[in-house]
Amino acid sequence: MNQTDTDLQSGSLVPLTIGDSEQLVPGNETLLSCFRFLRQYPILAGGFCGRAECGTCEVHVEYPSGVRERVLACRTGVVAGMRVLELSAKLRACLSDL
Ligand code: FES
Repeated sequence: MNQTDTDLQSGSLVPLTIGDSEQLVPGNETLLSCFRFLRQYPILAGGFCGRAECGTCEVHVEYPSGVRERVLACRTGVVAGMRVLELSAKLRACLSDL
């Protein structure tokens, strides 16, 4: 059983839209952790600091309420139904095949 199977069984996956791509990602995680869940090697190899220092994880998101804001993916928790409208150049490269 892999992580996705475990998360599906526990019901802890939540919908997240990244551009035109609809994904299921673990709830209660940061967006950066969700991106790593989807594309582990590119995100791990991408050199993201994970500490709100490098600024290379900035994304533009829309919450289910319709509120839009620019946030750091490493400091922002995923919300079920959230949409990622725009990725930083580095994240776009890491997630280019979604
Ligand atoms: S990963 Fe460096 S600021 Fe988010």
